[in-house]
Amino acid sequence: MEDSLRYITEHSSAQTEALSWIEKQTHIRTNHGRMLTGAVQGRFIKMLAEALSPERILEIGTFTGYSAVCLAMALPETGHLDTLEINDELEDLILEGFRRAGVEDRITLMLGDARESLEMLRKEILEDRSRPEYDIVYIDANKREYPEYYGLVFDIVRPGGYILADNVLWDGKVWQSPMPQDRQTLGIARFNDIVASDPRVESVIIPVRDGLNLIRKL
Ligand SMILES: C[S@@+](CC[C@H](N)C(=O)[O-])C[C@H]1O[C@@H](n2cnc3c(N)ncnc32)[C@H](O)[C@@H]1O
Repeated sequence: MEDSLRYITEHSSAQTEALSWIEKQTHIRTNHGRMLTGAVQGRFIKMLAEALSPERILEIGTFTGYSAVCLAMALPETGHLDTLEINDELEDLILEGFRRAGVEDRITLMLGDARESLEMLRKEILEDRSRPEYDIVYIDANKREYPEYYGLVFDIVRPGGYILADNVLWDGKVWQSPMPQDRQTLGIARFNDIVASDPRVESVIIPVRDGLNLIRKL
């Protein structure tokens, strides 16, 4: 851990026992511990969400459930979080983490390609009117698909609601010159450009961890 991150972690509220368990199990049972939202950003999104008093949250990219638990902790008893994940091998670990955190009744895990799940949610919210719009959407799945996720979620976020997109600084690759032309960097760079020129939103990139784009739908 870098010295600055160690200092920040030691001088921020400690993570809960359930989150420590998810973090540890993620490192033991997957090779992708680096994808975890982690203690500092997890605390940040939980406190930010709490300040926004949401009833309905959507997450794109569950992984092992760390950020889903952080966001669910910000919900009232009546609130709900839907989280989308393509890797069904993670299901047991995700559900065990939700149970340990005591938030299993507040979360629905939707397994499958997020773009298909989003089409289904759009239909239920916009056409059938069988569920309400979201107050907060947290985007943290395939970096190549961020522009697509933005287009799919925009109409199902309520006016005044927030879209939070993680990893938007992409280790600084988005401002390198020449910019690396891999599809993940291109996806993030295009996403940031779309948001920055979208007159329908107010936005600011916060340099927490790998960058969080905080977008408010006007
Ligand atoms: C960076 S990780 C998410 C980290 C998680 N939010 C956390 O804090 O621990 C990205 C996740 O998105 C998932 N993913 C990638 N493409 C996806 C897609 N098209 N639909 C749903 N999930 C996807 C990956 O399987 C991976 O688990």
